[in-house]
Amino acid sequence: MVDLDEFTVTNAALEQMANTANPRLKQIMAAAVRHMHEFVREVNLTPEEWIQGLQFLTAIGQACTPIRQEFILLSDVLGVSAVVNALHDKKAKELGSQSSLLGPFFREGAPVMPMGAQIVEKPTEEELVIHGTVSDTLGAPLANALIQVWQTSERGLYDLQERNGESMDMRGNFRTGPDGRYHFRTLRPKGYSIPMDGPAGALVQAQGRHGMRPSHVHMLIGAEGHRELVTALYFGDDDYIESDTVFGVSQSLVVAVKDDPDSPMQGYRAVRYDFKLGKADPGESGRVGADPTTFMNKAAE
Ligand code: BEZ
Ligand code: FE
Repeated sequence: MVDLDEFTVTNAALEQMANTANPRLKQIMAAAVRHMHEFVREVNLTPEEWIQGLQFLTAIGQACTPIRQEFILLSDVLGVSAVVNALHDKKAKELGSQSSLLGPFFREGAPVMPMGAQIVEKPTEEELVIHGTVSDTLGAPLANALIQVWQTSERGLYDLQERNGESMDMRGNFRTGPDGRYHFRTLRPKGYSIPMDGPAGALVQAQGRHGMRPSHVHMLIGAEGHRELVTALYFGDDDYIESDTVFGVSQSLVVAVKDDPDSPMQGYRAVRYDFKLGKADPGESGRVGADPTTFMNKAAE
């Protein structure tokens, strides 16, 4: 019998897990154990700090509800979701438009709307048109692609926050036409603070961070045989465009509101964005993140 110390326990744990039947589970857990042990050694974690960490993770779990996913938020503020997205984009066999965070406010089943519809129930500010095309990576238009859009109000809150999940607003689903084109109306959403009233927000505050996201419109785009694209368009003149708390902004996703003679709805200022979707690999799982409702149901199975 060997006495294990803070170094040799790592190999002992890896050896016990060596018969894991699922090779991917084996790989992921072995790396997780190696990195966690190294992390504990690097910071010389004390028993009190270890308990504090476990209490923090417990609080993260307890903050989850059918409409709130605090674990996703934690992953977002630590930059983990952004790393997963970047790796996901790199794995594509064809380079489409860049991904961005799904975030915790996506909901399945938003109303299907006719092209050009206003997604905000009671617009109180300047209406904008967002328009463009969805095509494959060679520029061939993708007809009947499903575009799911969601955003905050001009007050910087999602319907899940303003209406407590009881009804939907500021979201809508559209289908591209035979020419791959889409357009809809909206208001410029306000940049907002991520939910700061839970343990993930408390961590952000303890780190002296502002907790803000720049103004953006989320889009989730799917077309037969193509990689689903989870992304967002960011308004370039927002004060927080360079310091997004959840690291979702890329240069290629920054947009501006303009007078646009090519907009299909004249009389409004417009944002134009043309999306490209790569072909899907067979059996590829595309989506990054989850609707909190379906996420909670899965966790209960
Ligand atoms: C969002 O964009 O909806 C979001 C993303 C990450 C954390 C909080 C909100
Ligand atoms: Fe958002």
